[in-house]
Amino acid sequence: MILSKNILDEKDKRLRKKSIDITFPMDEKYKKVILDSIEMLTLSQIEEEAKKYNLRPGMGLAAIQLGINKRFFVIVYEYEEGKFENYIFINPKIISNSEELVYVEGGEGCLSVNREVNGIVPRYARVNVEYYDMDGNKHEIRLRDELSVAFQHEYDHLNGILFFDHIDKKNPFKNQNNMRAI
Ligand code: NI
Repeated sequence: MILSKNILDEKDKRLRKKSIDITFPMDEKYKKVILDSIEMLTLSQIEEEAKKYNLRPGMGLAAIQLGINKRFFVIVYEYEEGKFENYIFINPKIISNSEELVYVEGGEGCLSVNREVNGIVPRYARVNVEYYDMDGNKHEIRLRDELSVAFQHEYDHLNGILFFDHIDKKNPFKNQNNMRAI
């Protein structure tokens, strides 16, 4: 099982490298990483389990956060109290995006960033993305709001970008009024 100590900290330079596409058939070891990540993210969002395993709540994890420089990530989204939907994105691409921008009220978080960072991270309210599943089949999906933000956050990890890179250093709350809070 994945524990907090297995997740790279923001100071680790590997997080700044661009990850590489997966080739199919996908190596079994990466499939295991995906399933383990889903398990960890699910437990992390259930208060009792999070306490038991000392996990910070998180809804997304990219392979590079475990030191694996491959282009895949998972999102575990609690769409209803105690109900989770798993998303696995392999070799993902953003095909199109909304003009509308949103930001997470209270700030984004990241399992690799163990401190509070304040400021606005502008994200597209909606994105159309394509990606592959573990069997190498290509899919397309439209994501909005929380899922759109989570996707863009994780997608950034594949390119060595951390969420606070998007925050204006001089004015962390710049353009706040031009965006919708979610
Ligand atoms: Ni992150």
